[in-house]
Amino acid sequence: MSIENLTWHDTFVTRDQRENLLSQKSKLLWLTGLSGSGKSTVANALDLRLNEIGKATYLLDGDNVRLGINSDLGFSPQDRNENIRRISEIGKLFVDSGLITIACFISPLKANRDMARSTIGNDFIEIFVDCPLEECEKRDPKNLYKKARQGVIKEFTGISSPYEKPVDPEIVVNTKEQTVDQCVNQILDYLNVGI
Ligand code: ADX
Repeated sequence: MSIENLTWHDTFVTRDQRENLLSQKSKLLWLTGLSGSGKSTVANALDLRLNEIGKATYLLDGDNVRLGINSDLGFSPQDRNENIRRISEIGKLFVDSGLITIACFISPLKANRDMARSTIGNDFIEIFVDCPLEECEKRDPKNLYKKARQGVIKEFTGISSPYEKPVDPEIVVNTKEQTVDQCVNQILDYLNVGI
């Protein structure tokens, strides 16, 4: 595939104009963490709080995206990389549209997340949803850890596929120690919007 005959077209309406219309600055809030760590729960609660204070948001969630645009991808390192590459590009478009965009994906490798960061630039905010593996496995909301231990699911993150903890994320929330509300407040505090 070649991009040599393609030309980028700037839009007449700029990102600034889109943001001004919404009275906000768009960001990409990227939640990373193990399956069962609470990414989707925190992301949804955050989305709701932002919505309630009049912010225009959108939530991109791993399972949902994998049921749609990324339904052709599995969990090999190559497929996970392609998953994150597509999400990063989609996220970039959402940020350009002026929306505060929340992405929650395991995104297990530092290289995946660095790719997302370099695609998005300064508006990328990495949020580590920290929770010990033992606790995620105890919660096992989708019964996936059990299946992974039985070898029914291969390449399962934390069991038979690696998760590299973020080295220097903008925000760390700990869902074992903190309530969902505390996690959300911490993120809103960082964003400097009223809590
Ligand atoms: S990522 O690694 O490519 O970032 P993503 O966040 O999109 O993963 O999808 C993770 C979701 O897929 C999990 O929440 C879980 O429901 C499901 N899943 C199915 N198989 C696996 C697997 N082998 N490893 C991790 N998650 C899996």
